[in-house]
Amino acid sequence: MNGATDWVALFGRFHPLLVHMPIGMIGAVVVVGLISLWRDAARPAYQILLALTALSAIAAATAGWMLASEGGYETGTLFWHRWTGIGLAALLTIAAVFAQLPRCECRRVGVLRVLPLAGALGLVAVAGHLGGSLTHGPDYLTRYAPAWLGGGSTPETSLPDDTSITGDAAVVLAMVRASCVECHGPTKRKGDLRLDEPEGIASVVVAGDPSRSELFRRVSLPRGHGDLMPPDGEPLDDETVLAVMRWIRDGAAMGAIGSELQEEADAATEDAARIQSLRDTTGAIVTSIPVDGARLLEVDYSLGVGEVTFAELGPLASMAERVFEVNLAGRIVSDEVVGKLTPMPALERLHLERSNVDDACLARWIEAAPNVRYLNIHSTGVTDASLGTIEALPRLDRLVLFGTALSERGVTSLRAARPEVDITGELGLPAQPSPDGQASQDGG
Ligand code: HEC
Repeated sequence: MNGATDWVALFGRFHPLLVHMPIGMIGAVVVVGLISLWRDAARPAYQILLALTALSAIAAATAGWMLASEGGYETGTLFWHRWTGIGLAALLTIAAVFAQLPRCECRRVGVLRVLPLAGALGLVAVAGHLGGSLTHGPDYLTRYAPAWLGGGSTPETSLPDDTSITGDAAVVLAMVRASCVECHGPTKRKGDLRLDEPEGIASVVVAGDPSRSELFRRVSLPRGHGDLMPPDGEPLDDETVLAVMRWIRDGAAMGAIGSELQEEADAATEDAARIQSLRDTTGAIVTSIPVDGARLLEVDYSLGVGEVTFAELGPLASMAERVFEVNLAGRIVSDEVVGKLTPMPALERLHLERSNVDDACLARWIEAAPNVRYLNIHSTGVTDASLGTIEALPRLDRLVLFGTALSERGVTSLRAARPEVDITGELGLPAQPSPDGQASQDGG
């Protein structure tokens, strides 16, 4: 929102408040009007009340016109609501003018006095109902009515599940996915709220009423407010916040959003379970990370000590196509175990520093990880015998090799053959970790 005061928008927002004045007053007008038929003393009160009612109707209609200029309303209903509202203001004005005319016994003038008021009474009902439909949805009045009165048919259930989601609903769905699910999803459920499930969203939404919807409040608070969502990073842009507001105001239909989210939530719950079972079986730290729209896995064994068995490495096969990084820094893995591994085509980052890896074992690793881009073998027993294998890695772009037994000549020839590879590390350090197990440098 820009900082300038928008008087049209500001006054427009008073429409919902102002409309209640003519609606309430018109009843009083009728009562006082009837009294004035018998009691002349009530006439001035009738005239003043009717004039005030007409003025309030004009004010409400003007504010309504301004509010409508903000857009976002269902146009058919809006058309009829607008013109019945204006018609109502016009009829009340006519009635107010006639009421000022001097009293006369002739019938015609009497009819002229009564007709506009009767018309206004009819229009107030129609305009009021249409206005309710605009803000609360078309079935607002009848939602809890018995079926023979047209009740119970909510728009959400009439939405076919396969509707491609468009408009405000699509914006809301995209927002939830991009900015909320990381904290309100299957893995984390901050504030005990899951926004990746229809019930979760429904629990923080009052359909038709953004101002009472916690979802809207949380995303529309001023920057820096402690309750603002998302809590860190950039607040949502105005377009998104407005879409949330309109979507709730228009009934927060969950049909298509709901089924899509439910599918995703089920998939995510299932995925979280698979990842948890990978943690349990491998004993490693398994982290799911977004890479180019997919959720890939980082598997870190480096916090353990000693030997890693096939029982711990083998289960990677169940997610072989999603393993992006494996960290075996400082661990011991036998050639035989590495030889049994299922190839992991997505494996791009391989940490073997300070492990027992030697030339034979490295060759096996490269068979299992043919697309590796980052390879760390510092402080290992790798020698010039591995140069050919390393050189042939098609996607390699970063190599960390200080503390290996590679020769100066060998590394120079590697640099010449693969000039685009970023090679880190001076040579000539001991090939194995020092006896206390601490490498003197860290490969990062
Ligand atoms: C970085 C994590 C994080 C992100 C991202 C996040 N939230 Fe929250 N949310 C929280 C925490 C923590 C709480 C509980 C503390 C509180 O109420 O402020 C919370 C609470 C809420 C609540 C109140 C729950 C209740 O029952 O009253 C709502 C509503 C909410 N968040 C909506 C959202 C929406 C919408 C988004 C996306 C635009 C979002 N959150 C993104 C962390 C997050």
